[in-house]
Amino acid sequence: MVRMPFPSLPLLCPVCSEPLELARANPSGQGGLACGSGHSFDAARQGYFNLLVGKGTAFEADTAEMVDARFNFLGHGHYRPLADAVAAAVVPHLAREPAVVLDSGTGTGHYLRVVLDAAAAEGLNVAALGLDISKFALRRAARLNPEALHLAWDVWQALPLAGNSVDVVTVVFAPRNAPEFARVLRPTGRLLVVTPRHGHLASIARITGMLAIEEDKDSRLAGAMAPHFIVEEARDVGFPLSLTRQEAAGLAYMGPAGHHLDPAAITGRLEGQPETLQTEARFRLTVFRPATPQPA
Ligand SMILES: C[S@@+](CC[C@H](N)C(=O)[O-])C[C@H]1O[C@@H](n2cnc3c(N)ncnc32)[C@H](O)[C@@H]1O
Ligand SMILES: [Zn+2]
Repeated sequence: MVRMPFPSLPLLCPVCSEPLELARANPSGQGGLACGSGHSFDAARQGYFNLLVGKGTAFEADTAEMVDARFNFLGHGHYRPLADAVAAAVVPHLAREPAVVLDSGTGTGHYLRVVLDAAAAEGLNVAALGLDISKFALRRAARLNPEALHLAWDVWQALPLAGNSVDVVTVVFAPRNAPEFARVLRPTGRLLVVTPRHGHLASIARITGMLAIEEDKDSRLAGAMAPHFIVEEARDVGFPLSLTRQEAAGLAYMGPAGHHLDPAAITGRLEGQPETLQTEARFRLTVFRPATPQPA
């Protein structure tokens, strides 16, 4: 059941752009979102609002199996140093009461969970939104982060959020709609982007058929975010990983190549490898600030 802990969340109706508010609970006890013009969106039983109703999308959403692979891998804490670095970069920008965080492409909600815990440890009051196009991911995220509001939405469409309303947008390995992130961010807001770096998981990628990360990916990011954002800080986070063959297979399947990889084929390729594989995780955290203050 969806709770709306922060009635002040800056949601806009995706049909008419009027503010969306939490409506009275329906007979099944679940709240819905409704605008003044009568457009309404019921909460799915799994804890998120599907604002995409009626809108077709050509996007190939992650499958339940890919989402499960990601959930299991992250749950083992392999990327914990990255999650801690994300939280450390986000928390200083959450001083406003309540601060609004949007985790775009939230996936299973793993990074938002760590951010919310770090903010709570600092006594900060945060209103959180998790957005994703995959309903399988949102089910997981809504369970992991019950204090956040979850929306099924396509980030390539205008975001159903008011302008100048968000303090931090986090995007961890997910698509980036620079103009929309710039529109919804407050002038003092920040966009935190996490990307894999060249050489990330390279030894496992070679074996499993995962996509390799191109060398110039880092430099392309700033260009892709211009003219809406300016890089404020970029920090590299890298650490060794020691993975079982099964974990390495999950890692391959949870990534963007997972759509095209057959789990049995990945397992086959790992046969004959040592039971424990050594590799290196290499990420870049980039903090952007809006290039021009947005009109109030
Ligand atoms: C590689 S996963 C990362 C998920 C999460 N941030 C994490 O790191 O665990 C990419 C996520 O972006 C979501 N995604 C891809 N395209 C999207 C779109 N057009 N709109 C919203 N979400 C999208 C996918 O469903 C997936 O959950
Ligand atoms: Zn409306």
